[in-house]
Amino acid sequence: MKQGFIALILAAGQGTRFKSEKIKVLHRLMGKSMLQLVVDSIQKLKPEKIYVVVGYQKDQVMKEIVSPKVSFVHQQKQLGTAHAALAAKHVLKKEEGKDMLVINGDMPLVTAATLRPLFSFHRRQKNVLTLLSAVLENPRGFGRLIRSGNKIARIVEEQEATPSQRRIKEVNAGVYISRVKDFFQALSQVSNLNRKGEYYLPDVVEIFSQQGKKIGVYKTSRLDEIGAVNSRLELAMAVDTLRKRKIQQLIEKGITFYDPQTTWIDLDAKIGRDTILYASVIIQGKSRIGNGCQLFPFVHLMNSRVGNRVRIFGSSMIEESVIEDDSQVGPFAHLRPKTIVKSGSKVGNFVELKKTVFGPRSKAAHLSYIGDCEVEEGVNIGAGTIVCNYDGRKKHKTHIEAGAFIGSGTELVAPIRIGKNAYIGAGSTITKDVRPGALAVERGKQKEKPGWAKRIKKK
Ligand code: UD1
Ligand code: CA
Repeated sequence: MKQGFIALILAAGQGTRFKSEKIKVLHRLMGKSMLQLVVDSIQKLKPEKIYVVVGYQKDQVMKEIVSPKVSFVHQQKQLGTAHAALAAKHVLKKEEGKDMLVINGDMPLVTAATLRPLFSFHRRQKNVLTLLSAVLENPRGFGRLIRSGNKIARIVEEQEATPSQRRIKEVNAGVYISRVKDFFQALSQVSNLNRKGEYYLPDVVEIFSQQGKKIGVYKTSRLDEIGAVNSRLELAMAVDTLRKRKIQQLIEKGITFYDPQTTWIDLDAKIGRDTILYASVIIQGKSRIGNGCQLFPFVHLMNSRVGNRVRIFGSSMIEESVIEDDSQVGPFAHLRPKTIVKSGSKVGNFVELKKTVFGPRSKAAHLSYIGDCEVEEGVNIGAGTIVCNYDGRKKHKTHIEAGAFIGSGTELVAPIRIGKNAYIGAGSTITKDVRPGALAVERGKQKEKPGWAKRIKKK
């Protein structure tokens, strides 16, 4: 926006209707806290500064929202939204001439696409105060707009409203724009003589209106954006809205969803073109998925990076790991943190990798545990191979050089190194390093007693 402005977010209230130990605005939706979502939407308008009013659990809130543009002001006691905004009066003295966006911290669905036109409207109309409204089929819980003629006279809070006022469907969204100086002047006249004994911020409307100041109402038709989150039910509904928005964005970018209803993609996740997601895929955190991948049902990815043309089969869990191009993982694979599956590798059924670099072009197709390992290029790990990386006190490293072949049912007791192109006979428990190109077998010689079964039966 051409002209600078500052923002003030009200986030000091506990949110008693939430019934939580944790402050309401730190509850998360699709990977982001409610307050962070509000901050993100405001950031898109490039404010000069964002001030957040904190109170309840202020240390946690300040720790969560970290940005050079954000500062905090403290509301000692939570005596209402007007009182919350007033807590910033002193700090904002230096910003007196600027426009200020004041917004409730509990509206995680609001976007820049709604806030931006609100500003242009405010400036075009040269309003002293502009507020955002919407007409809702079910206005319960919101303050209602009382108009007189074509002007707005005041806002009445739900709990103060008469039955006929409650039937009004135009509501206050909790977003206001005014010049800092004008706003604080009106705000200091707000009283707490009402049912709740609180200082209601929307009372500034009546104050401005009695002073004959120009108040504008910007009525939005983007109804899903003004939903405030006051209860867990509203949280669940807001999560659903964000989930659908995210999936719609991805569909527009060329990603296929076989069952959008059951797929969850956190807001921070990115997915490339022509990738296909089957039903019930969950992608959390700052995950990145490349182009042309396939994620089969019940794949759960957390803070992980996936290259191009990767296939992850059903019910695999991938945590803080990397899967490079053209690899294949699962079904029922578990990649634990700090694992890198290099390109063209295959990690199959019931294989668990932990803190391991695997490949390129290596295979562990069935039933293995491979932890604290470096597996070089073109290694084949037979079914049921176990790396014994833990001696009860410490974790030890295993290194398997390029081209090695580990027979099925092998135990590799770490620390250990298997040389290039070496072979390990199936069923061995290997406790000493194996030289490049050698065959190591460690198992008892097979004995056979002919006719033994018949004899034992006779006894
Ligand atoms: C508020 C409005 C209501 C509007 C609705 C929109 C008031 C009095 N009412 O109602 O007209 O329709 O939002 O969603 O403003 N907060 C503080 N300190 C306090 C009290 C609240 O920082 O002392 C913060 C809360 O953390 C919250 C925001 O202000 O983020 C709004 O407070 P809340 O109690 O949720 O207001 P509502 O009753 O929902
Ligand atoms: Ca609210």
